[in-house]
Amino acid sequence: MKVAFFSSKEYEMGIFQKANESQGHELNFLDVPLNVQTAVLAKNHDAVCIFVNDQADAEVIKTLSSMDVRLIALRCAGFNNVDLVAASQSGIKVVRVPAYSPYAIAEHTLALILTLNRKTHRAYNRVREGNFSLNGLMGFDLNGKTVGLIGLGKIGLITAQILKGFGCRVLGYDIAKPQEADAIGIEFSDLDTLYASSDIISLHCPLNAHTHHLINDASIAKMKRGVMLINTSRGALIDTVAVISALKEEHIKYLGLDVYEEEEHLFFQDLSETVIQDDVFSRLLAFNNVLITGHQAFLTSNAVENIADTSLENITDFEQGDNLINEVL
Ligand code: NAI
Repeated sequence: MKVAFFSSKEYEMGIFQKANESQGHELNFLDVPLNVQTAVLAKNHDAVCIFVNDQADAEVIKTLSSMDVRLIALRCAGFNNVDLVAASQSGIKVVRVPAYSPYAIAEHTLALILTLNRKTHRAYNRVREGNFSLNGLMGFDLNGKTVGLIGLGKIGLITAQILKGFGCRVLGYDIAKPQEADAIGIEFSDLDTLYASSDIISLHCPLNAHTHHLINDASIAKMKRGVMLINTSRGALIDTVAVISALKEEHIKYLGLDVYEEEEHLFFQDLSETVIQDDVFSRLLAFNNVLITGHQAFLTSNAVENIADTSLENITDFEQGDNLINEVL
């Protein structure tokens, strides 16, 4: 099939080309994101392949449909950027990569926790400058700390397993208790108990109407003073303005983000020669107890190879009229 591959990046093109040797699709790599302005670039293609910050809203889908695009192949797990109702009404199928390496994201969660705690990012710079002072680098033992995980799906459960290895007490909240929770040693909990008891809170649930700004003034007020908050899921789970206010009051003592609610204007591009216009994001950067990575939790070679294999197999299944096992309904 002829596929318009939006938001393509150098780190993935070679991997997709190699995986495509066995699938034989025509991949047209475009370095622009999919949005209302760029949707016309999908003309003469059967499918679009898109990533987390491409916008497949109703207007974009109308344009795609008018050009006979029949498939939206997400090369990610989340699908909050696709208007599923509009896609269904236009007869466009939507497929995704439900799992490619939950370990990649769970391990990045630990990287954020450990870096914020032990301040290795600051220590690295100090030592390189010949500053061997330890002032300001005090951490805490993870052993014995209570970690609250919101969302106990693939990533949440692996994060819990890793944390148990550190000797943490793990509380977990989900809309449905997974059967693995007891065996891993997760104490299934309601949200208020989790907020009140956790030294560290990490978000692993999807973004939807129920979870938008789940972390807000009211939920932060229920958290322990000095809590560490980690978000590797989707930016809009957090009301960033509320979190900034809690950081200023030192209610939240550490913040680790791999995602940001306005990230589509920033992430996945080199803006180092420009002035950042997002004042909320700039305020976050000014805190030395805030660590931000640019949506890279998925970025391991294992994960990207799995993403390429599954995305292209999804497209082949569609082309051959096979059952779409990864269809988003
Ligand atoms: P999953 O679908 O396996 O698990 C999500 C869990 O959240 C499910 O158990 C579900 O029941 C639960 N959930 C749904 N609504 C909830 C609510 N209102 N409150 C609490 N729990 C709720 O998904 P997976 O693979 O574990 O991914 C989790 C998140 O990580 C997703 O938001 C995904 O978009 C994000 N992600 C981020 C990546 C990154 O690079 N930063 C890469 C891959 C995923």
